[in-house]
Amino acid sequence: MRARLSGLVVGALIVGACGGGAPVHSIVPVPSSFERGSGTFVLDENTRIALADGGDAELLRVADLWVGPIRLATGLPLPLGASGQIRLSLDAAAGAEGYSLIVGEGDVSVTGGDYAGLFYGLQTLSQLLPPGVADGVAGHRGPFELGAAEIRDAPRFPYRGMHLDVGRHFFGPEFVKRYIDMLARYKINRFHWHLTEDQGWRIEIRRYPLLTQLSAFRAETIVEKNFDPYVGDGQRYGGFYTQEEIRDIVRYAADRFVTIIPEIEMPGHTLAVLAAYPELACTEGPFEVGTVWGVHSDIFCPSEETFEFLENVLTEVMALFPGEYIHIGGDEAPKVRWQESSFAQEVIRREGLADENELQSWFIRRIERFLNANGRRLIGWDEILEGGLAPNATVMSWRGTEGGIQAAQQGHDVVMTPTSHLYFDYYQSEERDSEPLAIGGFLPLERVYEYEPIPSDLTDEQAVHILGAQGNVWTEYMKTEQYVEYMVFPRLFALSEVVWSPADAKDLDGFLDRLRWHLERLDALGVNYRALDGR
Ligand code: ACM
Repeated sequence: MRARLSGLVVGALIVGACGGGAPVHSIVPVPSSFERGSGTFVLDENTRIALADGGDAELLRVADLWVGPIRLATGLPLPLGASGQIRLSLDAAAGAEGYSLIVGEGDVSVTGGDYAGLFYGLQTLSQLLPPGVADGVAGHRGPFELGAAEIRDAPRFPYRGMHLDVGRHFFGPEFVKRYIDMLARYKINRFHWHLTEDQGWRIEIRRYPLLTQLSAFRAETIVEKNFDPYVGDGQRYGGFYTQEEIRDIVRYAADRFVTIIPEIEMPGHTLAVLAAYPELACTEGPFEVGTVWGVHSDIFCPSEETFEFLENVLTEVMALFPGEYIHIGGDEAPKVRWQESSFAQEVIRREGLADENELQSWFIRRIERFLNANGRRLIGWDEILEGGLAPNATVMSWRGTEGGIQAAQQGHDVVMTPTSHLYFDYYQSEERDSEPLAIGGFLPLERVYEYEPIPSDLTDEQAVHILGAQGNVWTEYMKTEQYVEYMVFPRLFALSEVVWSPADAKDLDGFLDRLRWHLERLDALGVNYRALDGR
């Protein structure tokens, strides 16, 4: 990786000297409208950046965030001040998260509908520079020529998400930040951080120290797909984020207009918790942190002790994550332990519930009341529809789109993440032998690109409930950062057009052509990716 990176930096020195970046028709995600003008703007040692009205603190921060890496990459001074050729300003007329970017012969103006819009306008401007320049990759010299252009742009969906499972494999704070950087560069604004799993609990909770002493570590990990007979690797594995690290990452993301949605799984995918706190199960245990992938039968018992535990955990989670949504999982919770438990059966009788599905629904409603009372909204996987949806819940539709359709028809908000189009843990080629080991499936780039988040069965009124879509990255088989990157890129680029660009602006051939520049940018950044077939 390093050798490849340094080779490219040398290459960039040569290219950078005469440098242009992506032509306007190569911007990803493709803007709502763009036109190429005539002439070029030259960014060089004389270029200054003007902040409207001298700039308030937030304008200055957004400007600094953009210009800092360019200074680092180029050595150009690019001072910020009251006057200059690159003018940054706000105008609500550009819309929420929207912007206009006008590159003329003598000047550039970037106008955000709000601060996020200004940030996105600057991300687009970054793409007009040579790969790596706006990313702080050293070794570039100006001047840089930017082709004249007029761009007006705003997102199609308010929820533009990417997910990362850090339970199956743990990825440290620096990687998480780099991941967030990549999301922000491509106008993704939600990071769904899957923090708890059968195979590892990853978030420090002060009140329950065993979660990080015991639940965060597993004895070993299954080797490849050796389920039966089981073969383990004999290597203790684990890790977690301290609350301080989490606060730092939340701030880092917010600075880049990315909201983090933390996921605390319940009632299933909780074996790691039960290993430390077996009293939260319906049976005695003992339990061990999972070493094999799949769906485990041992889940939380619907007891007062469990609710007390969860409310205490969620109280600490809410203090760390200021966003409106808390994800409570809800997927893949087998009911066998509840069927066999006289305690769980008594709760069903006491509460007048029909069955274990309604018991799960009762469980989730209770958690929803707690979150709502604390000013937060609950989001969960589509299994939370079974037994009846909690009154204010948002549904993440993963087992296809049916759950999302049902939820929207019932007037609930929905985020679309169907396995068919948005599971980035699936193979990228049908020739599996030529790919790194993956969970299964087949999800080529083109299929991601084709995805339309609004199901045709919905009325316009119901369609408003589709907040957007999200790519999911489950890491059972992704042991390294490079492997995660390989599964994410270039599929994230396709997702960015699905969630940002107008539906009628999408064009697969054009997209595949414009990816060339973005792959060069990944090269400059040292980010791994899967090469395009036949290109
Ligand atoms: C899921 O993939 N189990 C949500």
